[in-house]
Amino acid sequence: MTAATLARPASLRQRLAAPSDVAHLAACSIAPRTLDVDQAIARMLDDVSRPGFWQACEEQVAQARRLFAQLIGADVDQVAILPNASIAAHQAVSGRRWRRRREILTTPAEFPGIAHTWLARPRARVRWCGPPGAAVRTADYLSQITPRTALVSVPAVTYRDAIRLDVTRIADAAHSAGAAVFVDAYQAAGVMPLDVDTLRCDYLVTGTGKYLLGLPGLAFLYVRHPDGPPPTLTGWLGRTDPHALRATVLDSPAHARRYETGTPAPAAVYAAVAGLSLVGGLDLRRVRHHTQRLIAATAQRLAAQGEVVRLATDADAQGAHLALVEPRAEAMAAWLGHRGIVTAPRSGVLRLAMHAYTTGEDIDAVCEAIAAYRCRSRTRPGAAR
Ligand SMILES: Cc1ncc(COP(=O)(O)O)c(C=O)c1O
Repeated sequence: MTAATLARPASLRQRLAAPSDVAHLAACSIAPRTLDVDQAIARMLDDVSRPGFWQACEEQVAQARRLFAQLIGADVDQVAILPNASIAAHQAVSGRRWRRRREILTTPAEFPGIAHTWLARPRARVRWCGPPGAAVRTADYLSQITPRTALVSVPAVTYRDAIRLDVTRIADAAHSAGAAVFVDAYQAAGVMPLDVDTLRCDYLVTGTGKYLLGLPGLAFLYVRHPDGPPPTLTGWLGRTDPHALRATVLDSPAHARRYETGTPAPAAVYAAVAGLSLVGGLDLRRVRHHTQRLIAATAQRLAAQGEVVRLATDADAQGAHLALVEPRAEAMAAWLGHRGIVTAPRSGVLRLAMHAYTTGEDIDAVCEAIAAYRCRSRTRPGAAR
């Protein structure tokens, strides 16, 4: 796929592996299967049975690193490849000494795996901002950064309600107070422009299993200054020259590969290259515009059907999915799934995720099916049965 062929957001639709009448609205949870990932996995299986498989795999790793660095405006030496976002978060801070400044400022709306990583930090103290169970706002962060704050952890877009925070403003306030900034961009990367210099973050983490159109099993850690203290978790890929294979030497290169551990999962790596190549061919500003338009139309339509939809107060603060309030979201998702509509239930909401491939027909299909579900299940919008 070339940049030219994918310039129109909808042309990505032709790369989806499912029949064209399947509406995939779940990229906030899992990427749709694409022909490109299918081909990449077939190639990986082919490579496994040839001599030189590990070399081929290393080339794929290098390509994934390059494509991701390009996507976020980073240098390849600022990007580490890890198995998941939780480990990447751990790696970002594990070498840090928590002395006078011990506070990590985060939010209950943070993805639990990231929040748990902070809670598990010995000697660090976690402070929460934003009301529990409700939408966090940029202002909640700005009002709680203090000279005691060591790290400010911000989801670029929250995983449940898709609140998009103003990372740049938060980062400026954090830096003025002498704190570092960590961004979890798993719900943003691949579906909106992301540039680490614009965001002004010190660390950024994301994975390939969602809007980046790969598979789960691979995460990226961006580190602005990757020559800080080495992490406490390591492996042979974290060495200056991994292929020297010296068991008695523990050195750390002055680039982000010092955060790496052991062998990555080849299937995830090959799929990452396929997904990142697709995303790299998109104009993400147009994709953002496209998804915002679809979200506004979907929200309006669902509200007219009497549904309760959680939306950010202004369109710019909305991520790429919307959250429909439904206590039995799993049951609704299963019902929709049998009708070829793939959605993402999570903690009392049904998430509908948009991407470049999402069409007006997908929105018609899901809105009509939700109306039909209400009749069949005799449930009321937003209420427990
Ligand atoms: C915002 C966010 N961060 C992180 C993750 C995943 O973290 P991990 O790769 O550690 O499973 C998810 C979803 O699964 C997510 O939505």
